[in-house]
Amino acid sequence: MLIKRPRPGDSARIQASEITPESAYVSRRELLGAALALGIGAAGMGFSLRADAATTPLKFSRNARLSLQEEPNSYEDITTYNNFYEFGTGKGDPVANSGKFKPTPWSVKVSGEAEITGTFTLEDVLKGHALEERVYRLRCVEAWSMVIPWIGIPLAAVLKRFKPTSNARYVAFETVHRPAEMPGQRSNVLKWPYVEGLRIDEAMHPLTILAVGLYGKTLPNQNGAPLRLIVPWKYGFKGIKSIVGIRFTEREPPTSWNISAPDEYGFYANVNPTVDHPRWSQARERQIGAGFLSARVPTQMFNGYEKEVAQLYRGMDLRRYY
Ligand code: MTE
Repeated sequence: MLIKRPRPGDSARIQASEITPESAYVSRRELLGAALALGIGAAGMGFSLRADAATTPLKFSRNARLSLQEEPNSYEDITTYNNFYEFGTGKGDPVANSGKFKPTPWSVKVSGEAEITGTFTLEDVLKGHALEERVYRLRCVEAWSMVIPWIGIPLAAVLKRFKPTSNARYVAFETVHRPAEMPGQRSNVLKWPYVEGLRIDEAMHPLTILAVGLYGKTLPNQNGAPLRLIVPWKYGFKGIKSIVGIRFTEREPPTSWNISAPDEYGFYANVNPTVDHPRWSQARERQIGAGFLSARVPTQMFNGYEKEVAQLYRGMDLRRYY
């Protein structure tokens, strides 16, 4: 299936044994909260990188206004059921195969249509921004979803610092290319490095964030350490992981899944229950962790953010610009 007809992941079922009971999650959360209250957070700007696979607590404040009021999925669900083809195509591959990946030290190359360009350390990229917790639902194009308490900063805040020129109509992102640490990059299941892009107004929208953590701690490798994109009204594949490149462009940049299967994955990738994928429906989604059989519920237009983002696409034919 992967060789013949590529798709962002397979539909492997999550095992019952992978799901943490809610009671365990609550006590874990209380513990984390206590640790943060005691100030066992990172020093300086409230962020610290880890030298190994272990994650580090972060200091952050919750953005309740921009967070869903829904109970997040368990840490277990979020960190063991992943799509990260650089570590393999199975849902369990990223957690199993990402132990050798080193997310520190990290730097990001900023290039293209901006007054300030160059290579910046991750600390530099994040400098001056307070970390926020945002609870968003990640809706994968495979028609499943999870609720994730991300920690990050608005992408707009980061981008503005580089002073994009008036020619900057798009922003392109690139994942690190390290076949020695990322075994999936030794196969040609996708063209490497993974690339993604947004129109500049989408990138500057207040809902769009760069995430550095989840559940109060730095990102585990399998979730895109140390820096990834989250655009909550788009399918999950727009959320490019382990970012090392940010480029301001005049033209729409190429994107990995569109290169791989242009008839199936477009540049916009807005969650839209009325436009089916050519091979399966997008009308409903399986909410992972929602009970024994994982409930299938109707998918919402723009993943529930129609009021906030519909104006970005006014006048566009969303069947054509999928
Ligand atoms: N980024 C890179 N570099 N490589 C990938 O394979 N998969 C995407 C996206 N970002 C992917 C990626 C897909 S298809 C999804 S659904 C989300 O990551 C999954 O994020 P999660 O594993 O943290 O839930």
